[in-house]
Amino acid sequence: MNNIIRQLEETTAWLRARYTQTPTVGIVLGSGLGNFATHIKAELEIPYEEIPHFPVSTVEGHHGRLIFGEVNGKKVVAMAGRFHFYEGYTPEQVVFPIRLMKFLGVQQVLISNAAGGVNPAFAVGDLMVITDHISFAIINPLLGKNEKELGPRFPDMSEPYNKGLVKQLKEIAAANNIKLQQGVYFGVTGPTFETRAEYLLIHRLGGDAVGMSTVQEVIAAIHTGMQVVAVSVITDLGIREEDNVITHEEVLEAAAAAEPKLTTLFTELIGKLP
Ligand code: HPA
Repeated sequence: MNNIIRQLEETTAWLRARYTQTPTVGIVLGSGLGNFATHIKAELEIPYEEIPHFPVSTVEGHHGRLIFGEVNGKKVVAMAGRFHFYEGYTPEQVVFPIRLMKFLGVQQVLISNAAGGVNPAFAVGDLMVITDHISFAIINPLLGKNEKELGPRFPDMSEPYNKGLVKQLKEIAAANNIKLQQGVYFGVTGPTFETRAEYLLIHRLGGDAVGMSTVQEVIAAIHTGMQVVAVSVITDLGIREEDNVITHEEVLEAAAAAEPKLTTLFTELIGKLP
């Protein structure tokens, strides 16, 4: 049997031996957004390093544990901390937990991230529901031999972000007086933040926000047939007049400040899922 399928099956069996319920919702918590985890009625938490075939997260602001539990009456599995390509993981390693979610029974994946705003209408602290993405600047995780058991060779990408879920999220935002921007997420590898010229180019190319995660995960999720909804927290602005120094600390701080809004959106959306 192929290696990746075998690994996914082994990890699934290992986890099912420890947690017998079926999570139908998967959650990925981005940089500085780990506090959402305190809103999960946790039933089992496992540090990544204990899970067979799991890569281990190293970046500050990432907690590195898989949480099984309940949010608003639904069984969920949440990644507190994710794997980034810039850390040196292969794209296949980056998306391993996403594929694992499918094997565990997840149908909808809720993804969050910290991102730089390149739409001049955005402010630091805004949330943006991702309506589409641009993947040219990252490495596609589906390169190489296709595993039919995971999904098709040429997955359709006309609706990577489920329109119904995006609409529901907007309604929840409106009902809770949360300002919710919408736009296109432009994926980059990092780890450098962008130059002024790059932020401008990304905006000209159709991006509203730019970030170093999410796109590979979404591609893998769509490949396996899960539905995706994703929200960026705008932690810094790439396009602005004054001197533009962006630090990781600033990104984490802005994400943490906006986290309660994200928690409301995700918690309410989970309650409305079928
Ligand atoms: N660029 C890329 N990734 C990011 C940024 C940014 O400005 N902010 C947070 N993640």
